[in-house]
Amino acid sequence: MSLFITFEGGEGSGKSTQSRILYEKLAGLTLPAILTHEPGGTSLGSQLKNWLKWIDDKDIPPLTELLLFNASRSQLITEVIRPNLKSHKVVISDRYADSTIAYQGYGRGLDLATVKAVNDIATQRLKPDLTVLLDIPVNDGFTRKKGDKHDRFEQETLAFHQRVRKGFLKLAQQEPSRWLVIDATQSKDKIAQIIWQRVNQCLTIGR
Ligand code: TMP
Repeated sequence: MSLFITFEGGEGSGKSTQSRILYEKLAGLTLPAILTHEPGGTSLGSQLKNWLKWIDDKDIPPLTELLLFNASRSQLITEVIRPNLKSHKVVISDRYADSTIAYQGYGRGLDLATVKAVNDIATQRLKPDLTVLLDIPVNDGFTRKKGDKHDRFEQETLAFHQRVRKGFLKLAQQEPSRWLVIDATQSKDKIAQIIWQRVNQCLTIGR
């Protein structure tokens, strides 16, 4: 059975850790699964990711950013997501289109209808069956992030990241059946257990 699961959240929310834990759990049960991430996940996407995160030019207009994230997404969907869903795998993506609504829409202030329209073109309206939101207060997330090299998004203001967090929570509120919102200040094991409970449900009784 194919299943499309995405992980969303702000900086330092633990998405990458939890998506990997879920992937390893499925692999351990010999359930066919793949783990991918956005931006990136393809050769073109990796280059776009590099630009989007590390380019020195601070004056990338939000609309350009919106298009670049969606270019990376379109490639990932064609090369990785659709073919794997077609061969009945569980596809796990660390970020997907909801990140664009939260970051470019709520964070950068682009018109939400425009963001959704561009997302719809890139995704061809392919929606996740389940989206896990790891919700964490902005300051707690940043405290968790190690290292002193900060990308273009990590360098953004606290207010920007607070808008992003609010955006994610709003999206979850609008579509409660798709979203699983988890308090990401809980322990790694507890969070993994909550996620597994829900995924197991999806796998056994369908979506
Ligand atoms: P990450 O690899 O640490 O998740 O970094 C990706 C960064 O890009 C993160 O700060 C969120 C941001 N982002 C957007 O602004 N829009 C998007 O559509 C996606 C997928 C990510």
